[in-house]
Amino acid sequence: MQKFNPPELVLISGGSHGIGRAMALECLNRNLAVAILALPDKHLSEIVNEIDDPDFYYLGIDLVSQDAHERVVEWLADNDLSPKYLINNVGFGRGGCFESVPLREYQLMMTLNNQVLINLTYALLPELRKNRGGILNVSSMEASLPLPYKTVYTGTKAFIYNLSLALREEFRYYGISVSVLCPGPVLTNEDGLKRVKAKGKQAQLLLKMPEDIAPTAIDGMLSGKAVIIPGWLPKLLVRVAYFIPRRYRLRLLEKIFRNYRDNPSEVVVSV
Ligand SMILES: NC(=O)c1ccc[n+]([C@@H]2O[C@H](COP(=O)([O-])OP(=O)(O)OC[C@H]3O[C@@H](n4cnc5c(N)ncnc54)[C@H](OP(=O)(O)O)[C@@H]3O)[C@@H](O)[C@H]2O)c1
Repeated sequence: MQKFNPPELVLISGGSHGIGRAMALECLNRNLAVAILALPDKHLSEIVNEIDDPDFYYLGIDLVSQDAHERVVEWLADNDLSPKYLINNVGFGRGGCFESVPLREYQLMMTLNNQVLINLTYALLPELRKNRGGILNVSSMEASLPLPYKTVYTGTKAFIYNLSLALREEFRYYGISVSVLCPGPVLTNEDGLKRVKAKGKQAQLLLKMPEDIAPTAIDGMLSGKAVIIPGWLPKLLVRVAYFIPRRYRLRLLEKIFRNYRDNPSEVVVSV
């Protein structure tokens, strides 16, 4: 395992729970220093109480709030912290018929999933350039499999996917590598569990736990891989889908997810 001495710093948005938390623990296990940004709530208190490591830092912050990225930069400077890696992980999803999700939810989703990522990347770029580091943006396997009934979420993840690949080409001139993580379903909350139970074996086959995918994600980021898809089944599905003509592919996906139409009260989170 690689040793980093003095430890290089990884800044993770949404690092108090789920995939972000698992990546934070994975980085600490690899002797990297970690700084997390997360809502100042129960999950943040839990991880702070759990981790006893001098190379662990945290800032409780609502990243959607006005000028949050500027406050992050100030906090880093005040604490003499200079990230080499930035993991843009924070995000959430909602599913259902397009019009069954409140517009305010869509606005929040686009802000948290996309605007916050742009703000943090923009604000941190000078430090990342100085340290010739890397960026890992968390998208989803749905970036390349647009899902009916998860339309806006899928759109935010496609934005991240395309942005990451394009930035990768620009930022290589600065010695910064940009990677994009495209996981399949990961069990991170109660809603996810309900959704998986409702979908039965089909979803269970694809399902991973956050700690299953974190090592692949961090390996990919450190080695500068362009697209990271953890697990052989999501990888296979993305490849096979590419060969199915778009019209049939989308009809098939609509059929698979039609239960959101039949059951409009079902609201799904993440993925
Ligand atoms: N889970 C999946 O199946 C799946 C699959 C593919 C991709 N993804 C993507 O992976 C990323 C992480 O998903 P997850 O399922 O691990 O999510 P999660 O378990 O809900 O964790 C999200 C993290 O972000 C924090 N957060 C939420 N809103 C915030 C805000 N306004 N300001 C600061 N921090 C905030 C949360 O804090 P609190 O916990 O305190 O709210 C938590 O630490 C997302 O971008 C998601 O779209 C997820």
